[in-house]
Amino acid sequence: MSEAPHGAPIKTPAQLIAAVIAGFAVPIIIIVLLAVYVDNSTRTGAGTDSLSEAEVTSRIHPLAQVEIRDANAPRVYKSGEEVYKAVCSACHASGAAGAPKFTNTADWAPRIAQGFDTLWHTALSGKGAMPPRGGTSPDDYSDFEIARAVVYMANNSGASFPEPAQPAAGAAAASGAAAGAAAGASDAGAAQAAAAMAAMASVPQTPAPAAGGAASADASQAGKALYQAVCQACHAAGVLNAPKFGDKEAWAPRLKDSMDTVYNYALHGKGAMPPKGGSNASDADVKAAVDYMVSAVK
Ligand code: HEC
Ligand code: HEC
Repeated sequence: MSEAPHGAPIKTPAQLIAAVIAGFAVPIIIIVLLAVYVDNSTRTGAGTDSLSEAEVTSRIHPLAQVEIRDANAPRVYKSGEEVYKAVCSACHASGAAGAPKFTNTADWAPRIAQGFDTLWHTALSGKGAMPPRGGTSPDDYSDFEIARAVVYMANNSGASFPEPAQPAAGAAAASGAAAGAAAGASDAGAAQAAAAMAAMASVPQTPAPAAGGAASADASQAGKALYQAVCQACHAAGVLNAPKFGDKEAWAPRLKDSMDTVYNYALHGKGAMPPKGGSNASDADVKAAVDYMVSAVK
C-alpha cells in the first residue's frame, strides 16, 4: 500500500506547497479584512448619531459669535435674488399667509399697479402678515437691498421696474447719493437713512481741525468741530432715531444715565449709533462732541 489513499486531493508536492501557503494566507487575509471592517465602522452608540461630526460641532460651538464688520470697508450689497432667496421666499415662494406668490402675475398685478415706491415702502414698513423688511433688521439688509428684492420679485411676476440705484459711497458722492436716494424714495425715512449712510462714508478719517486754528482750539471747539464734521449727519435731523441736537425731550431719558455711560455709548456705539459716529476721532474729541451736544439740551 504505497499509493496515496484513494481520492486524496493532494497528489503532488506542488499541490502540497500550495495547500500549505493557502492554509496560512487565507486566515491572515480574513483577519486583515475583519480588522479593516471593524476599524471603519462608525463608532457610535446604538441608535444615536450623537458622536457625528456635525452633532459634536453643534454641541461645542461657542455660545456667542462676534461678527466683525469694518465700518469703513466698502459695503458689498446682496442682489435682489440673494435677498429674496434668503428672506422673502419663506413666504413669497409658496404664498404662505396670503403673500403674493412669486411669478404669480395675477397676485402681483394689482400690487405692481401701486408703483415701485409704494411696494418698497410696504416691504420696509410691513403690511398685515408681511413683517417689516420681511422680519430682518436694517443691519442685515439695507433699504437698498430690500428695494432690490422687491424689484426682483415684482419683475419676475410681471413688472419691469428698473434696478434701484445703488447708494454711492465716498466723500465726493455723498450729496449725490442723498439726492439720488431721495429721488428714488418717496419715503422720507428711507431717504434720510441713505443720506446718513452717505454722510458716514464721507466722514473724514482725521477730523477737521477745530475752527479757529490749533492755537485757540480748546476742548469745546474740538467738540463742536467734530459734531459738525461727523455727528450732525445723524443727530442734526434725528436720522435713524438719533436723539436730535437741542431736543431736550429726546435727550432727557438718556441723560439720566451717568455721563460715563453716555460717553461710553458714543465711544463704542449703541443700536444704530456707530462707535465714534463712524469716525476715528480721539476719545477726548468724541467726549468733547458729546459735551457739546449735551450742553445744547441743558
Ligand atoms: C412672514 C412672511 C413674509 C416674508 C418673510 C416676506 N413677506 Fe412680503 N408679504 C407677506 C404677506 C402676507 C403679504 C401680503 C400683505 C397684504 O397685502 O396684506 C406680503 C406682501 C408683500 C409686498 C406687496 C405689498 C403691497 O403693497 O401690496 C411686497 C412688495 C413684499 N411683500 C415684499 C417682501 C420682501 C422684499 C420680502 C423679503 C425682504 C418679503 N416680502 C418677505 C409675507 C411675507
Ligand atoms: C449714523 C448716524 C449717527 C452718527 C453719525 C452719530 N450718531 Fe450718535 N446716535 C445715533 C443713534 C441712532 C442714536 C440712538 C441710539 C439708541 O438709543 O439706540 C445715537 C445716540 C447717541 C448718544 C446717546 C447715547 C445714550 O446715552 O443713549 C450720544 C451721546 C451720541 N449718539 C453721540 C454721538 C457723537 C458724539 C457722534 C459723533 C462723533 C455721533 N453720535 C454720531 C446715530 C448716530
